[in-house]
Amino acid sequence: MTGKVREMISEVQVNARIKELADQISEDYKGKGVHLICILKGSVFFTCELAKRLSIPVTIDFMSVSSYGSETVSSGRVRILKDLDESIQGKDILIIEDIIDSGNTLSYLKDLLGTRAPKSLEICTLLDKPDRRVTNVDVKYVGFVIPDEFVVGYGLDYDQYYRNLPYVGVVEQ
Ligand code: IMP
Ligand code: MG
Repeated sequence: MTGKVREMISEVQVNARIKELADQISEDYKGKGVHLICILKGSVFFTCELAKRLSIPVTIDFMSVSSYGSETVSSGRVRILKDLDESIQGKDILIIEDIIDSGNTLSYLKDLLGTRAPKSLEICTLLDKPDRRVTNVDVKYVGFVIPDEFVVGYGLDYDQYYRNLPYVGVVEQ
């Protein structure tokens, strides 16, 4: 499980873009702070790097979800493996995702969390693959729009490997 990885977005580019997103989010939430919801496991790296660069009060919670079916194609059904520890009622919530592909996971999550009476609910994703969208979902912050390729690194995995790469790349067969 250690094929060669072709770099798509360099570590320097990713970190620079995360700083831009953090500045924008700090501005948008100025005077109120934000409650980040990190979607395990893929979003862990992005959440940490983003949170470190925010200049507003930040709290963080974690949720783990899984779509049924194969690893590389989303089936559209989502199940919760780990729910949040804390209530989101009355809080300004920002869901942090690694990538939006079909949109099924985030659309399900946004609907679910929306029923828990947050004050506001937005989405921030590091990567967006719009070519493969099946379910429309409103995303406020997008790091990079990428072509329809299966990417790894910066938290994203292929069969659980490659999450630790400090850049985003494509595994070469
Ligand atoms: P969606 O429900 O199809 O939008 O799928 C989102 C989830 O699928 C992400 O949170 C990832 O875990 C996974 N995923 C989608 N595309 C990729 C990819 O290119 N590389 C790694 N994981 C991916
Ligand atoms: Mg995954």
